[in-house]
Amino acid sequence: MEFDEMMDALASRMANGTLVKATISQPRLKSEELKRIRLKPVELRGELHIQFEYQYERILKHENVPAGQVRPVLDRLLRTFRQMQATFTGEDVQIRLSKKLKVSWKTGQTETKAGPDLSHNRKKRYIFEDGTPYPFLVRLGVQTADGKVKKGKADKFRQINRFTEYISDSLTHLPADRTIRILDFGSGKSYLTFALYHYLRIEKQLDVRVTGLDLKKEVIEECRQIAADLGYGDDLEFLVGDINDYNDETAVDMVVTLHACDVATDMALARAVRWGARVILSVPCCQHELFSQLDTPELGIMLQHGLVKERFAALATDSIRAELLSLLGYDAQLLEFIDMANTPKNIMIRAYKTGRTADAGRVSRYKAFRDMLGAEPFMERELKEELAPVLG
Ligand SMILES: C[S@@+](CC[C@H](N)C(=O)[O-])C[C@H]1O[C@@H](n2cnc3c(N)ncnc32)[C@H](O)[C@@H]1O
Repeated sequence: MEFDEMMDALASRMANGTLVKATISQPRLKSEELKRIRLKPVELRGELHIQFEYQYERILKHENVPAGQVRPVLDRLLRTFRQMQATFTGEDVQIRLSKKLKVSWKTGQTETKAGPDLSHNRKKRYIFEDGTPYPFLVRLGVQTADGKVKKGKADKFRQINRFTEYISDSLTHLPADRTIRILDFGSGKSYLTFALYHYLRIEKQLDVRVTGLDLKKEVIEECRQIAADLGYGDDLEFLVGDINDYNDETAVDMVVTLHACDVATDMALARAVRWGARVILSVPCCQHELFSQLDTPELGIMLQHGLVKERFAALATDSIRAELLSLLGYDAQLLEFIDMANTPKNIMIRAYKTGRTADAGRVSRYKAFRDMLGAEPFMERELKEELAPVLG
């Protein structure tokens, strides 16, 4: 078989969604730093992609390529590696390439009759895999030394993974020509701070500077010790302090919060807006403020039930937060962070800066909603100056 013929056969199988998994191995040059490439199908925003996982001596890198556009990537790889093993639906393929790119293509039957199970792959697509030890997760007590997620830490592990996925999705919104400045407010034990540092700095090798800030001195000191023990550089720091007093920055690119209590989330969002953060990812928790303000007789049959009132207050708070971000030039959405079975604190506020101004209709819709509830949102007070030209 000729090289081009092989490329046609592979590219069409990848495009039509029959790839289950593949490995490209045996670099032609001993000096080649890239050792192996694993391929698997993944669904991204409803579109089939092939994920290339590049395994170097010490790091892994990932690239997701739309399934119909893999040919040039594969072409480049198969000119520098001698072997590919692939499983397609109903067919195993063994490819060997000679020095002169002569192709030996052997096929066999495989058990895999159905198409690739993308929901299964979605599970496997986790950025941090159960079974692979990540030094920070081992040190934080989430994994055992051999990478098994510990009993009782599975929820935390899933939250870290999911949040990091959101971070991964937001990369195109971040600057590529300078250091990316990131703040994690209310970082606590800093699972997320370490995870995003590991993912962006160590795996993706991006130029980042990450700060985790929390009120708890001892917890922050422990985080500093862990970072030092793991040999992390100055580009990861932990500070003791109150979000509300943290005014040390003039510009920040990404602000994240995970379960920052009550109005601590609003403080973080307000700072993010003031610094013109391009990306805000925030999973709030215990939204109490509105609970005590709610004063809407028309909602009486809901609000008479404490449980319903609490949930309603939480949902209304997050809706107000997202709407204020929209009015301040963000494309803001409320998304599912993690399924309800894992934690009821499952809403993610994701906001990307667009700079678009809000139209008058949207502003009056916000005011009507706020006034109907009798709400006096913390974030509105915090951002009084910024909102003055919008709300009047
Ligand atoms: C529920 S914990 C979450 C910790 C961490 N983000 C996580 O998900 O594991 C909330 C953290 O927010 C911190 N916090 C609350 N209000 C704060 C404030 N005003 N400034 C700094 N940290 C705050 C608390 O000390 C606590 O560690």
